[in-house]
Amino acid sequence: MTQSFKPVRKAVFPVAGLGTRLLPATKSMPKEMLTVIDRPLIQYAVDEAREAGIDQLIMVTGRGKNSLVDYFDISFELEATMRDKGKDLSVLDSSRVPYGELITVRQQQPLGLGHAVWCARHVVGNEPFAVLLPDDLMAGTPGALKQMVDAYNEVGGNIVCAEEVAPDKTGSYGIVTPGESRGKLTEVRGLVEKPKPEVAPSRLGVIGRYILQPEVMDVLDAQETGAGGEIQLTDAMARLIGTQPFHAVKVDAVRHDCGDRAGYVRATIALALEREDLREVVREAMKQG
Ligand code: G1P
Repeated sequence: MTQSFKPVRKAVFPVAGLGTRLLPATKSMPKEMLTVIDRPLIQYAVDEAREAGIDQLIMVTGRGKNSLVDYFDISFELEATMRDKGKDLSVLDSSRVPYGELITVRQQQPLGLGHAVWCARHVVGNEPFAVLLPDDLMAGTPGALKQMVDAYNEVGGNIVCAEEVAPDKTGSYGIVTPGESRGKLTEVRGLVEKPKPEVAPSRLGVIGRYILQPEVMDVLDAQETGAGGEIQLTDAMARLIGTQPFHAVKVDAVRHDCGDRAGYVRATIALALEREDLREVVREAMKQG
């Protein structure tokens, strides 16, 4: 008989960051509002979460990030005008949130990803939860988080999404010390934040999707700082290893790091090539370029 684990219903979106890697674009606009084709990054992450069964969206926001929350509101003027003109309102469907589904908490200081997640502790309560970093756009069917939830339903505990990163790039990721592997799942024996290639335990890097047990909040309570002087989620997760099941899963999806110029451009091209209405135009433009 398969064991059943507490369902993952809540997702935390840490969206308080300053987005300095994409300046000046992000000077007065949240990086999560940057658009790939016709949807902002936050919409991709929210769609992925909903597909995975999430029905509570917890955004950890900060100063200057209000447009992210406004985006999920009903825009009365816009809808009234569109209705008057007989326009199709269904384009707005995915940007609507059922009453009470979106909750925001504030991270008043940029003290690190672990700190951002900890800011959501009262809303997360005593339940497993997902974390999605919207600048990692995950293109896959089913979505990356859905694949992770499927894995969670098999093994429970904590799950990070991971992929092999280039040998010289370990310093940009949380890196896994791998244990035994079974299919797409690898047991996590250790985690270290942004190690230099010479000391990295592997090339298995954590990418922006997590399923975590609420106990990680108790670890984060200590507010210990790690790499870069920040309160790191990686360090807090590392403390859970050995006390709870902990796996890395390689999902069947392509990760686009949209917090990076090249990654952002690549995401736009890749997603355009998947769309019937854009494929030919983009192919043509690339040939000419
Ligand atoms: C964060 C995490 C890191 C993870 C990465 C994935 O780093 O701290 O462990 O590998 O996200 O995108 P950041 O990219 O915010 O520096």
